[in-house]
Amino acid sequence: MKTTKKLAVFASGTGSNFIAIQEAIEQGTLDATIALVVSDVPTSAVIEKAKKKGLKTFVFNPQSYSDKEAFETEIVEALSEAKVDWVILAGYMRLVGPTLLSAYEGKIVNIHPSLLPSFKGLDAIGQAFDAGVKITGVTIHFVDEGMDTGRIIAQEAVTVKNSSTRVALQKDIQAVEHRLYPETINYLLQQ
Ligand code: GAR
Repeated sequence: MKTTKKLAVFASGTGSNFIAIQEAIEQGTLDATIALVVSDVPTSAVIEKAKKKGLKTFVFNPQSYSDKEAFETEIVEALSEAKVDWVILAGYMRLVGPTLLSAYEGKIVNIHPSLLPSFKGLDAIGQAFDAGVKITGVTIHFVDEGMDTGRIIAQEAVTVKNSSTRVALQKDIQAVEHRLYPETINYLLQQ
């Protein structure tokens, strides 16, 4: 029997990967539904985009909570209420803590704009550009307690052209992300 899985997409900013995932669902190339969009930035563009798509959102301000355990407890409640099967981090700029990790063990994935284990952390595209590497790329991996350390699921290389600027490199990397993330999620859901 075909059972369509429910995703929660977590994002802190623009939400272009969220849109790529939602469009793959609408086009029928990704068999899933987005049951919840979660953001730690109340003013983020991703929340506007989610509302325009008519999707349910959960927005929180981390500063209103005593600690990570407190806001992750509420997130887990919202995920459980929305019957979410998989957590998809798409530009969620925060480390996931034990509360969320244990509730969704093996079911949390992240996308990172470099070929891990190179250029972990913030501004991976800028780090690669400044290092002058000729090849960088995109990694999709399971999330564990570390920063960009979980088991790698998929990677794709992106060549840094000699004439490339930082902005052009970001565009090339994001074009790969927008194709590779929906494809990889679809593969994972079918396992
Ligand atoms: C993406 O490039 C993603 O790989 C990166 O944030 C961007 C979010 O863009 N994630 C990280 O750097 C995680 N360490 P988006 O909001 O337009 O999808």
